[in-house]
Amino acid sequence: MKNREKFRPVYHHTPAYGWMNDPNGLFYKDGVWNLYYQHNPYGSTWENMTWGHATSTDLCHWKFEGEAIEPDALGTIFSGSAVVDKDNTAGFGPGAVVAYYTSAGKAQTQSMAVSTDNGMTFTKYADNPVLTSDIPDFRDPHVIWYPQGQKWILIVSEKQHMKLFSSKNLKDWTFESDFGEGYGSHAGVWECPDLLDMGGGHWILVCNINPGGPFGGSATQYFTGSFDGHKFICDSDPSVTKWMDWGKDHYATVTFNNAPNGRHVALPWMSNWQYAAQVPTKQYRSANGIARDLGYFEYKGTGYCSVKPSQEILDAFSKKPQASLTPACRVDVQLRGNSVITLSNGKGESVTMTYNAKEEKFSMDRTKSGMTDFSTDFPALTTAPTYGKIKTLQIFIDKSSIEAFDANGKMAMTNIVFPSEPYTKLTVKGGKAKIYNLKR
Ligand code: FRU
Repeated sequence: MKNREKFRPVYHHTPAYGWMNDPNGLFYKDGVWNLYYQHNPYGSTWENMTWGHATSTDLCHWKFEGEAIEPDALGTIFSGSAVVDKDNTAGFGPGAVVAYYTSAGKAQTQSMAVSTDNGMTFTKYADNPVLTSDIPDFRDPHVIWYPQGQKWILIVSEKQHMKLFSSKNLKDWTFESDFGEGYGSHAGVWECPDLLDMGGGHWILVCNINPGGPFGGSATQYFTGSFDGHKFICDSDPSVTKWMDWGKDHYATVTFNNAPNGRHVALPWMSNWQYAAQVPTKQYRSANGIARDLGYFEYKGTGYCSVKPSQEILDAFSKKPQASLTPACRVDVQLRGNSVITLSNGKGESVTMTYNAKEEKFSMDRTKSGMTDFSTDFPALTTAPTYGKIKTLQIFIDKSSIEAFDANGKMAMTNIVFPSEPYTKLTVKGGKAKIYNLKR
């Protein structure tokens, strides 16, 4: 079907119809990336939470596969994760896909569902729920394999803490530890966790938080530290808060299970709870950001999460530069120092990006980007530390989003925009830009 909608992105995932928030149950198997998502199949505001399903072989073109997990007597289906049980630890068969989600009914409890056809259909586990709590905010279970201990680890958010459990069979879970008291930002509820082994003894605990983001509303904080199979120990001062992305539209970010070559491929929901229901799209709401590979780096003795556009996304663009901007393109800017990059259209709408080399700061101003008055929280200037100098800035432009990355992974900024006409003009002061179009 041809994409004729004004704001529907070209190379970002969107639901064909209805509301979407968090990515759920991300896993890779046999060459296919599976993305489930918080979906309202019946309308474009948050309700009737169901896991919609889409698949892709290149992280760029997505095919809707229908609704995968639907509400039942335990409640609607909130966020969660999925694992590929290669060694049949659960006894559902080698390669079964086991999904964990929150049943949101009178209480929030954790349930599971099993697929033996590569995630196309799921059967709910007869003994659901598998985890309960007395705390009302108890959700978003994320399961990983911990090879060092030959066991599974489940991390789940409970109000403003993370609880860790372990299991040998994916069904019976033993409480291991609690993380969070006094660490990082507690300005909102902790949601959608992930736990990543970055190698060399370094671990990253992903903790999405709403509200409390650096520019208001929802955002992704993370902690660096160690994990011994029982307990996560943060290696930073408790007062330190680290952010994975410095835009306003990066939330509920988690990674794919079983990604090739041990990669940590993450996908954000590209919106913000402050205004997600007010954005000027009609039949559908929200897109996912581009896939990004997460890594670990240190700057001045402190550990951080690096964020780079996934190779699959880079491969989707032409190798040869083009003469002018299109509504869906990538701009690489070789920076020589301070720089000002402006995207604009014939309606006087513009987005200005500023790089201050000395202060090691990058910012994006969308206050004049187009339609901004649907929410007073929308107009914004977002600013990021760059932890060193940026040499190459990669800017991904789609019909309603701008994502800027330091090609070395030390800065990521994701912002949505709603220009009344596409930006057609690019000006760069202090740098050399090349424009790449989408291949198809
Ligand atoms: C995060 C979140 C999750 C919850 C889901 C409900 O955006 O609030 O904590 O599971 O959305 O749709």
